[in-house]
Formats: sequence, C-alpha cells, structure tokens
Amino acid sequence: MTAMLTSGKARVVSGMRPTGQLHLGHLVGALGNWVPLQDQYDCFYFVADWHALTSDYANTAQLTTFAYENAADWIAAGLDPEKSTIFVQSLVPEHAELYLLLSMVVPVPWLERVPTYKEQQENLKDKDLSSIGFLGYPLLQTADVAIYDARFVPVGDDQVAHLELARESVRRFNNFYGDVLVEPQPMLTKFSRLPGLDGDKKMSKSLGNTIHLSDSAADVMKKVRSMYTDPKRVRADIPGTVEGNPVFLYHDAFNPNVDEVNDLKERYRTGKVGDVEVKTKLANALNVHLEPIRERRVELLSSPNTIRDILHDGSARARVIAVETMARVRDAMKLTYR
Ligand code: TRP
Repeated sequence: MTAMLTSGKARVVSGMRPTGQLHLGHLVGALGNWVPLQDQYDCFYFVADWHALTSDYANTAQLTTFAYENAADWIAAGLDPEKSTIFVQSLVPEHAELYLLLSMVVPVPWLERVPTYKEQQENLKDKDLSSIGFLGYPLLQTADVAIYDARFVPVGDDQVAHLELARESVRRFNNFYGDVLVEPQPMLTKFSRLPGLDGDKKMSKSLGNTIHLSDSAADVMKKVRSMYTDPKRVRADIPGTVEGNPVFLYHDAFNPNVDEVNDLKERYRTGKVGDVEVKTKLANALNVHLEPIRERRVELLSSPNTIRDILHDGSARARVIAVETMARVRDAMKLTYR
C-alpha cells in the first residue's frame, strides 16, 4: 500500500492519553516532534481517550476536561487545525471496529510478551491492570494508526515495542486477507526525555516533578529556584558539573541565548556564579518561551466551544478516512452484505 494522500504527503499519526495536564516533558518530547512534522506530512493527532481508560476506567470524571485542555495546549504550542487533523479517538468509533477484527487474528501471547504489559503491572500496583482492555492496549494502538494507513508514528522510545506489535499484527492480518493495511514505522523523537525538577531521569506527573504549560510565571520561578542541581556545590565559589545537570539541560532545551548559556556554564565550571543567577536566568528564558503558549491556551479555553468545535471538525474529517478503510477491510474479510 502506498499510504499517500492526493497531496502526495505521507501520513503521520500519533496520540496522547488525556491523563493530566501537559508539562515541559510533553513540550520537548511529543509536541517538539509533532509541530514541525505538520509542514512535511499529512498529520493526524488525536486524544487517546479510550487508551486512558485502559488503566483509569474507574474514575472518568476528569477525562473530557483533560481532553479539552490537552488539545488546547497542543494548539497553543503550535499544532495548527488547518494543517493537521486534530481529533478524539472515541469520536471515530471505527477504531474500535478495526481493533475487534484485529483481535480475531492476533494471538494473546503476542500481547502478553509486550514488555510494557508486565512492567506496568509491576510498577502500577495501585491500579487494576487485569482487564482485557489493558492487555489489548497495543492492539488498539495498532488500529489507531492502521485505520489511517499511517506510514510513520512519532513516539518516544518507550513506544517502540508497541509499534513492533503493530507491524507484526498488520503483517499477520495481511497474510490472511491480502495487502490491506500499511505497516507503520516509529519515528523517534530527537530530544525525547527531559529530566524532572528533582533530577529524576524523567519528568512525569506521577513523580510530581513537573512544570505545567499552565503554570504561572511566578510558579515557574518558584519551581526552578527549588530545582535539583549539582549537590557538591554548597557554595557559589565551588566548581560545578554542567554535564547531566538538569538546570543546564533545561537551559540547552529552552534558552535561545547561546552566549548567555555558554557564559553561565563557563562560570559554573570555575565556581564564579551563584545558583540563584543560573536559575533566575533559566526561569526567565522559560517564561519567555511559555508566555505566548499560556496566552493562546487561555484564549482558546475562554470560549467553551472553540476547542470542542475543532475536535468535532477534526474527528469528522478523520472519520471519512476511517470509514473508507473499514469498507476496504470488510471487503477483504468477505464481510460485505450487499
Ligand atoms: N501509547 C501512546 C503513549 O502512551 C499513546 C497512543 C495511543 C498512541 N494510540 C497511539 C501513540 C497511536 C501513537 C499512535 O504515548
């Protein structure tokens, strides 16, 4: 299959679960990748609300709030609903139909062998991960991308195993029914992981070490001031380590003033700068970066229909393609009652 639009652009599909507020980790990870792809590819980005249910089915009270807020953050950070199709998974129910049909041909042990399956069950002991839905997570993800003939899937390295399952499942399906679905390739994020404020290797909600896109300038200053940095440096005149220091990793990611960053690094290494100066300059750079995003976010969320309309329009556009794919799939499986 060629997976080309009439525009000639290959299709890219990616999604995010609406499980909380977006933070800087999402900005450099997912969004830092999604935004620039818009010009080169036919991009489909969606709120994976069903995937959020695979682990959080019991309390769904905040699901749609997170969905709207996340979508507002995406657009505030540069996704353009004119260029990309921005939608909600559950508003395109054909994803579920393809998932069901794929589930007929994909062996259960394939899903049990996906490393995240057992890892998450080990790590998230407070959640019930014994459901069919959780086992099927990577297969639902397969349907999400295969239904749009996605050629590329921009994801972090934690998702590579899911894409492997997706390719194997598509191949098995095609073996039975012909060359129907496209095998998706992961497109790895360059700057995939931002450390947490506490120095943990990952910024994540569950670790409470995040700066949210919605945090105020004052909150950003406060959080940056309390960031983990080189613990050896109990005084400003002690030489410090720049490499791997989260404060400087953030400077590299967000401070466009390379001369300022190099000067700070030089003085840090030689014990000629205080932490307060390094951190204040970082917080200022972050706030310059975040301010326009904050403004757009507030504006988008101030009229309740704006985001809802964008998501409904995007979902209707996505659905046209999903319906076509399902017609092809049903034909190939001899499930057509004409
Ligand atoms: N599993 C992805 C994550 O946690 C979210 C996701 C769901 C996804 N469906 C997808 C990503 C399809 C890419 C394509 O990040």
